[in-house]
Amino acid sequence: MKRLVILGSTGSIGLQALEVVEALPGEFQVVGLASGGAREDLFAAQLERWRPSVAALTLPDAARRAARAVGREVLPGPEGLETAASWPEADLVLNAVVGFAGLSPTLAAIAAGKDVAMANKEALVAAGPLVTASARAKGVTLLPVDSEPSAVYQLMVGRSWSELDRIVLTASGGPFYGRTPADLETVTPEEALHHPTWRMGPKITVDSATLMNKGFEVIEASRLFEVPVERIEVLVHRQSLIHSMVVLTDGVVLAHVGPPDMRYPIQYALTHPRRPPAPWPRLELGTAPALTLARPDPGAFPCLRLAYEAGRAGGSLPAVLSAADEVLVEAFLGGRIGFLDIPRGLERVLSGHRAFEITALEDARRADAEGREAARAFLA
Ligand SMILES: NC(=O)c1ccc[n+]([C@@H]2O[C@H](COP(=O)([O-])OP(=O)(O)OC[C@H]3O[C@@H](n4cnc5c(N)ncnc54)[C@H](OP(=O)(O)O)[C@@H]3O)[C@@H](O)[C@H]2O)c1
Repeated sequence: MKRLVILGSTGSIGLQALEVVEALPGEFQVVGLASGGAREDLFAAQLERWRPSVAALTLPDAARRAARAVGREVLPGPEGLETAASWPEADLVLNAVVGFAGLSPTLAAIAAGKDVAMANKEALVAAGPLVTASARAKGVTLLPVDSEPSAVYQLMVGRSWSELDRIVLTASGGPFYGRTPADLETVTPEEALHHPTWRMGPKITVDSATLMNKGFEVIEASRLFEVPVERIEVLVHRQSLIHSMVVLTDGVVLAHVGPPDMRYPIQYALTHPRRPPAPWPRLELGTAPALTLARPDPGAFPCLRLAYEAGRAGGSLPAVLSAADEVLVEAFLGGRIGFLDIPRGLERVLSGHRAFEITALEDARRADAEGREAARAFLA
């Protein structure tokens, strides 16, 4: 039995991870659950159902109320999350927290020698080299959960990285594929939240609509696999059945194909290196739609270019980009700015930033704070 801590248990990935655990009896024991605190009733119900030995909620008031409701200890604050991430009983930590808040528990888990299944891409964007160097130093495994990096990881298992020519990440194109910049000026949060193929949390859904999510995945894959961003290509694939491809040195292309269902990559990360049968609906190849691939339109989706620029420059720029994006997406969802103000704000924040190296958590925190402050200045 693998003993599991799930950070972000109340979110889209966290809930699907618990479905995976439920569907594979005898595989896992849930020893820790942690979340932010916005959904404290759901969290309290999870504590009653799974009875983990450690529980944490970042919002102190929510932690207090959940503790009272369930009659057990719920650790408060970011430190509580770090304690859960480094819990001695755990074999594997699934990090499904959204945003920069996922970085410090990731580093805490690694420092405690835990393998980490990473859904939280913002930590890898903000401080990828720090995270991968820490993991290497501790000899722990980082397993991607995000479907595209998971696909690349699975395609490269048993293969030498010297055989890799380049990575091709596929993008659904989001709800606004084919729209012109003029069309995009007036789109609403409701439209942005209506993703054609994936059901996800609100932040990543808006990031998918701007293609920022794909830009983050370019940086995430570059950091995880130590491949320069120039060797990572993005193609729009509307059917979301090819989750990514690798082009080998002899020109052969390998594709990872499956239904657009996050429970597959979650199950792979949680059961790795085993591959037990998955109970999720399978892809019927004979009735699958025609598969298409196309280049993204850089004019309508400038966030992708910004991510390549930040990923190429490295240092503090990706962390600043990610922090500013969190602030601008929240402002867009709150109706305070238009859709195209997200890339406009990001462009302004990046061009005004004086980059520095990120060698410790404190550097990442400083970059995050500067990115947020610059984005707020743009909003003001
Ligand atoms: N959803 C997907 O299909 C998908 C696919 C690939 C990658 N990802 C990545 O996985 C991560 C999670 O995405 P999601 O879609 O599951 O997001 P989500 O549905 O919004 O859930 C986010 C989770 O993070 C928790 N959280 C938020 N702020 C926190 C904080 N300060 N401290 C501790 N926990 C906090 C939330 O807790 P409360 O709400 O209880 O406060 C919730 O459990 C993101 O990095 C995303 O990019 C998601």
